[in-house]
Amino acid sequence: MTTITLLAAVARNGVIGDGTTMPWHLPEDLRHFKETTMGHAIVMGRRTFESIGRALPGRHTVVITRNTAWHHADVEVAHSLGEALMLAGSGEEVFVVGGGEVYREAMPMAHRLNITQVDLEPEGSVTFPAIDGAVWREISRRPGESVEGPGVEFVLYERR
Ligand SMILES: NC(=O)c1ccc[n+]([C@@H]2O[C@H](COP(=O)([O-])OP(=O)(O)OC[C@H]3O[C@@H](n4cnc5c(N)ncnc54)[C@H](OP(=O)(O)O)[C@@H]3O)[C@@H](O)[C@H]2O)c1
Repeated sequence: MTTITLLAAVARNGVIGDGTTMPWHLPEDLRHFKETTMGHAIVMGRRTFESIGRALPGRHTVVITRNTAWHHADVEVAHSLGEALMLAGSGEEVFVVGGGEVYREAMPMAHRLNITQVDLEPEGSVTFPAIDGAVWREISRRPGESVEGPGVEFVLYERR
């Protein structure tokens, strides 16, 4: 069975972005994202794809859009989350990497949450859905090592 993991960096107030970009620049989290997803399939919303601006090398990228005319040479296109997960294939783990709309839709079917907790409270209209302790069990927590920028913790949750 393929493990479906939501991978996100989330501020103390739940904010993950302002609709266009992320409200921080965290090289340590970018490294974590790269190491975690390399060689795997990633699924993302069209807005997140456009905020990144290109396909990420070494990862099979599936972009979800309702626009049947939308195409990009380096990614696969799906028109529903179910189709996206099918196109992502039957690897060991597939990562849903945002943004807010896609996390909300994918959370009920996720097996794991791989969350970078960012010690900030930025402004921003896009949030990660609440992590309900009755549904999710924390299985590991590792503090970031960078001495620059806000504190981060890498936290893994599993569905109970
Ligand atoms: N902190 C983090 O870890 C993190 C990670 C990722 C993104 N972000 C931030 O999140 C923000 C973007 O999030 P967002 O919620 O605005 O957008 P999003 O979830 O990235 O993309 C939404 C778009 O995806 C498509 N879509 C969503 N559900 C669909 C469905 N069921 N069927 C077909 N298409 C579907 C639609 O595209 P069309 O409009 O083309 O139909 C929709 O407009 C940005 O600020 C970004 O920087 C943060």
